[in-house]
Amino acid sequence: EARLRVLSGIQPTADSFHLGNYLGALRQWVRLQDTHDTFYMVVDLHAITVEQDPKVLRQRTRVSAAQLLALGVDPDRSALFVQSHVPEHAQLSWVLECLTGFGEASRMTQFKDKAAKQGADRASVGLFTYPILQAADILLYQAHAVPVGEDQRQHLELSRNLAQRFNHRFGKTFVVPEPHIVKDTAKIYDLQDPTSKMSKSASSPNGLIELLEDPKRSAKKIRSAVTDTGREIVFDPEGKAGVSNLLSIYSALTGKSIEELENSYRDKGYGDLKKDLAEILVEFVTPFQERVKSYLDDISELDKVLARGAEQAREVATRTLAVVYDRVGF
Ligand code: ADP
Ligand code: NA
Repeated sequence: EARLRVLSGIQPTADSFHLGNYLGALRQWVRLQDTHDTFYMVVDLHAITVEQDPKVLRQRTRVSAAQLLALGVDPDRSALFVQSHVPEHAQLSWVLECLTGFGEASRMTQFKDKAAKQGADRASVGLFTYPILQAADILLYQAHAVPVGEDQRQHLELSRNLAQRFNHRFGKTFVVPEPHIVKDTAKIYDLQDPTSKMSKSASSPNGLIELLEDPKRSAKKIRSAVTDTGREIVFDPEGKAGVSNLLSIYSALTGKSIEELENSYRDKGYGDLKKDLAEILVEFVTPFQERVKSYLDDISELDKVLARGAEQAREVATRTLAVVYDRVGF
């Protein structure tokens, strides 16, 4: 029986993935390989919507791929590739841009937020059309499901609208993708400001755990995470945001339920919880970093894996684009 197809991508815009990326998204990518037909990509086309250094981008793209492999993306079970290696993304994107209303694109709130941060004159047209490229990414593979967080809902809605619009005007061509909302995925918060989400653009570097930083540094950040003045270790995101965040991370890394953790820390203090979690984190990242290093020690092999992934992706992408080009009159 044919498996449903899933597609997801991550931007190579940081030197390392962070714990939020892993526990909130990438862990799910790995699991979905058991049940779905999976396409995963490093989205370097999206990465140039903000100014980039070419050398840094090339390096980050490889390091991103190495991290995905080290986290468990298996190139024998998933097509793992780099977006720019598949020219059909940009080609389909143009066709979809011509089907998107200017007003419709202008309503994307993420652009408004990002453009406001950069200053309207500095924001590129690429940043503006980014969600349309994202639609092309998805529709090219006829993906049924797209694992998304809350922040991507509006963009996925645009992808669905474009698929339906194209199908209506030119005949059934695209699968209309559904959001794949993952129930047990953790939302991870900043360790120093546990009411805002952990992010690569964190205001304090001590709030962010980067998977490739020195594990000793990560351990120290956990041990100095902000908690409240109380003593009880209970999961209460409203009243005890810091402790609850640590419990979420602990639970996600060990598979132990929050209840189980509350019980085992009943007679212990915050210090014990942090010390144990710091150790658990070190035990997770140390072998992960060794695996990343070994992938990066053999760049030619890594590039071969990515070339094979791009070939698998293009098998599907060229087929979709050929139908699209024919239907629009090319
Ligand atoms: P950032 O927010 O650091 O810029 P991205 O937007 O590049 O990270 O996120 C890549 C993926 O990681 C997305 O699927 C997003 O939902 C997930 N993600 C990012 N930060 C977190 C977090 N703090 N908790 C859970 N998931 C997260
Ligand atoms: Na983000």
